[in-house]
Amino acid sequence: MTHIETPDTIISANYAAMSKKAAHEIAALLHSKPDAVIGLATGSTPIGMYAELVRMHEEEGLDFSQATFFNLDEYVGIPHDHPQSYHHFMHEHLFSNVNANPERIHIPNGNAVDLEAECARYEQGIKDAGGIDLQVLGIGANGHIGFCEPGTDFTLGTHITQLTEQTRNDNARFFDDDHEQVPTEALSMGPATIMSAKRIIVLANNTAKTNKTHAVHDALYGDVTQDIPATILQKHPDVSFYLDWSIQREVQKMIASQSERSFSRD
Ligand code: GLP
Repeated sequence: MTHIETPDTIISANYAAMSKKAAHEIAALLHSKPDAVIGLATGSTPIGMYAELVRMHEEEGLDFSQATFFNLDEYVGIPHDHPQSYHHFMHEHLFSNVNANPERIHIPNGNAVDLEAECARYEQGIKDAGGIDLQVLGIGANGHIGFCEPGTDFTLGTHITQLTEQTRNDNARFFDDDHEQVPTEALSMGPATIMSAKRIIVLANNTAKTNKTHAVHDALYGDVTQDIPATILQKHPDVSFYLDWSIQREVQKMIASQSERSFSRD
């Protein structure tokens, strides 16, 4: 039988507390399994978590040297040193500030000559590393995870994806607020890659920039559908959502107004 249940939620008072809790889970894994394989995410949400990991490395000697890292996704067609490339992001926020081994850092190459071959190589690399022990995710306002956009086939592995207008508009905030500058394509782990991780954590806080209350609500309580990629997480046996109190409250309000509406219809 397919496993479907509401994912576990871990609520923090605010963004800083949420970031610390998530960082502590990664640190605990690095302590118990120094050579863990960890999947990492970009976007504004995990920045606080990375800052806490860097602090733990500097002040407490948290060791990254034996771990292997696979990032979720990368834009197609922007240079690695472009300030908005995910290569640049990861080095700025984490890898340049800790003792990760460069040979164990993997980010899809969005400038590969043969993008299909790059996707296959990346997927195989994850398998060869023994699979991902812990995958970190953010969530887009349209329910995307990585760059798996609405409609993505749940059986896909790492693949080339066309970014939706909504995602390009949401991410224009990182590109001088100019949606034209946002690439139209990306490489992303697929739903199948993400679901093969042994454990998954999703971070989401309430942000004025992109309203993702709906996406978080549906990921937790909605019907599982390819139209909202994050809903597939309900089928994973070990997933936790790290939320700040503010988004938790918005999700609860949404549930309350839905049951009020169905009550008034009865
Ligand atoms: C991008 C990334 C996703 C990320 C999402 C949310 O589109 N590809 O992995 O989850 O942004 O971004 P933010 O955390 O800034 O809301």
